Amino acid sequence: MTTIGTPLSPHATRVMLLGSGELGKEVLIALQRLGVETIAVDRYDGAPGQQVAHHAHTIAMTDPAALEALIRAEQPHLVVPEIEAIATPVLQALEAEGVVQVIPTARAARLTMDREGIRRLAAETLGLPTSPYRFCDTLAELRAAIAGDGTNAGIGYPCIVKPVMSSSGKGQSRIDGPDDIGSAWEYAMEGSRVSKNRVIVEGFIDFDYEITLLTVRARGADGQVETRFCEPIGHIQVNGDYVESWQPHPMHPQGLLLAQQIARTITDDLEGLGLFGVELFVKGEDVWFSEVSPRPHDTGMVTMTTQWQSEFELHARAILGLPVDTSLRTPGASAVIYGGVEALGVVFDGVEQALQVPGTELRLFGKPESFVKRRMGVALARHAELETARAHARQAAALVRPRSAD
Ligand SMILES: Nc1ncnc2c1ncn2[C@@H]1O[C@H](COP(=O)(O)OP(=O)(O)O)[C@@H](O)[C@H]1O
Ligand SMILES: [Mg+2]
Repeated sequence: MTTIGTPLSPHATRVMLLGSGELGKEVLIALQRLGVETIAVDRYDGAPGQQVAHHAHTIAMTDPAALEALIRAEQPHLVVPEIEAIATPVLQALEAEGVVQVIPTARAARLTMDREGIRRLAAETLGLPTSPYRFCDTLAELRAAIAGDGTNAGIGYPCIVKPVMSSSGKGQSRIDGPDDIGSAWEYAMEGSRVSKNRVIVEGFIDFDYEITLLTVRARGADGQVETRFCEPIGHIQVNGDYVESWQPHPMHPQGLLLAQQIARTITDDLEGLGLFGVELFVKGEDVWFSEVSPRPHDTGMVTMTTQWQSEFELHARAILGLPVDTSLRTPGASAVIYGGVEALGVVFDGVEQALQVPGTELRLFGKPESFVKRRMGVALARHAELETARAHARQAAALVRPRSAD
């Protein structure tokens, strides 16, 4: 049975977010609404989630000693990773010691921070369909993996190279022929989060569309963990970064069933409580597993307008052991607002015009610094017709123009 205390009292229910960007901010707001005492951690001051939490801390979450010291000092009931770049072995040690509960589990956080951990689990242990892939530590190995040798067929062209430790398309590029290999390797080295040179090279899947299947592991009426699925979210990625998403993406019933089976298999193995973003590629009757985030997904921001309970509320409820409702409220769409400028403390023009587009909402994340390709906000639109919702979201996003304040 779940009980929730009073924030800032000795009986508070305390939750620590590791990573407090736009997704963490919404999880924190959802937790605040349920009377949870919140602790927002990020690597820079004034991160979006730090602005709405009871407590804020700025540390390098990749530094094991700093992370351990903070968790021991704050003693939260739950630790909720919002990003991948965390010293996850520390989480595993503290979880094993019984000091904290990690969401969904420390093992899931560790496996999914590295493309190799999750890919090997999905393809080799669980037998899920994925793109063909190989891991390489040098440029020579990459060339050999693509070309093949006497014993192994090559991955061939086109293919995609990604650092094993990276997210949001950083260091990721497509290779169409031998001339692209050198530059793809260089780009991956620049985009990697860590000094490790390891990359994954994947055969290119010429999918019809890709979806995020938000999958929730939450306690049902009998206390057992149940798996529930949100309606599929369609999305468009540009250079590995999401620019638009919509829900529900129409799917053939067979394809949807297969997608749900894949999502259930991977999340059953990862265990724990919470919401997962399962990324899948779909072509005709075929569905491939791509990757999974054991936390809310950026493409799922659309659920703030399309579902009765957004992915953030679902995550908050699930991790507290509370029941969830994944049902759709209305079709809708989201479109990303990029910074467009390099500046501190930007000003947003066009907000009034954007909100005159029918059925729209905005989220401006409040990030202290803008970069050209930094996600600074998102426009949401609801409409019975998906195409109209998408057009309205794009239109509203385009009307919001961040500019330097000076
Ligand atoms: N093997 C592939 N075939 C085709 N497209 C791919 C492949 N791998 C990645 N992509 C495209 O790049 C996007 C980002 O790749 P992903 O592996 O999800 O990286 P990230 O962890 O940065 O999100 C995917 O959503 C998809 O659009
Ligand atoms: Mg992805």
